[in-house]
Amino acid sequence: MAVISENIEIAKGIFKMCLSGAPLGEAGQFLMLKQPDSLDPFLARPLSYCNIDKNSGTVTLVYQTIGKGTKAFSKLKQGSLMQAVGPCGRGFPLVSGNAVLIGGGIGTAPLLLLAHALRESQPERHIKVHLGFREEAYLIKEFGQYADEVSVDIGGIITDAADFSQAAAYYACGPEPMLKAAALKAEKAGAELYISLEKNMACGVGACFGCTCKTKGGNKRICKDGPVFNALEVHDVL
Ligand SMILES: Cc1cc2nc3c(=O)[nH]c(=O)nc-3n(C[C@H](O)[C@H](O)[C@H](O)COP(=O)(O)OP(=O)(O)OC[C@H]3O[C@@H](n4cnc5c(N)ncnc54)[C@H](O)[C@@H]3O)c2cc1C
Ligand code: FES
Repeated sequence: MAVISENIEIAKGIFKMCLSGAPLGEAGQFLMLKQPDSLDPFLARPLSYCNIDKNSGTVTLVYQTIGKGTKAFSKLKQGSLMQAVGPCGRGFPLVSGNAVLIGGGIGTAPLLLLAHALRESQPERHIKVHLGFREEAYLIKEFGQYADEVSVDIGGIITDAADFSQAAAYYACGPEPMLKAAALKAEKAGAELYISLEKNMACGVGACFGCTCKTKGGNKRICKDGPVFNALEVHDVL
């Protein structure tokens, strides 16, 4: 059982929760989270690793309050217990060489651990990050710890700012229209792009088939075979 060491609002409706004792994972993987003493909501909710401090074993999650589950999470105090199952899913591949990360809204959260992992695995690589928000930006300072360049856009279309013609691996996470735009631009430019998909999840471990999506290789479970896919595999179905 994990313990909440911090749970604070960092922007309007956006919370940062730190957990000690949660299973550690890789960038793009996620935890299925549930309050152990509550049956409402009954289903656990998936949240991605936003960052991990391997020295202290602390997992940071950043989440947006949407409905019942995330609103309940936002009310939990330091010291509360959290049932955390994971690491779930397949994360982002750490392609060698330069990297461009494109995040929209709360989709920026998993990209922070990705920037951290890319920097650690190849310190000399160049990492460029494009972050887009509707109204208020967050995690900017944190991205600055790992990235060479961080560009922030409020209220615009973040994929317009990204140049897909560079010699780099591209990674994107955010709303579906953003992923679709990124996939089209990447395909046109012949760029290698990995995207993280989202769907409501009941089990999170591949057992219920409630999260399947069509891919060029047949139906796949987003929770188990994803959530990260090569954009070429899924862009027809975005
Ligand atoms: C892999 C992955 C990673 C994610 N990472 C993050 C993150 O890092 N930060 C973040 O803010 N958000 C993240 N999300 C989105 C987050 O999980 C949702 O915002 C959250 O589950 C919403 O729950 P809620 O109870 O607050 O909202 P609600 O809208 O109340 O819940 C979603 C609704 O769907 C229903 N539901 C849920 N699962 C099912 C199901 N399987 N079948 C039928 N109904 C269902 C619920 O009962 C509820 O009615 C991620 C999602 C995925 C799939
Ligand atoms: S959520 Fe059950 S198979 Fe993916």
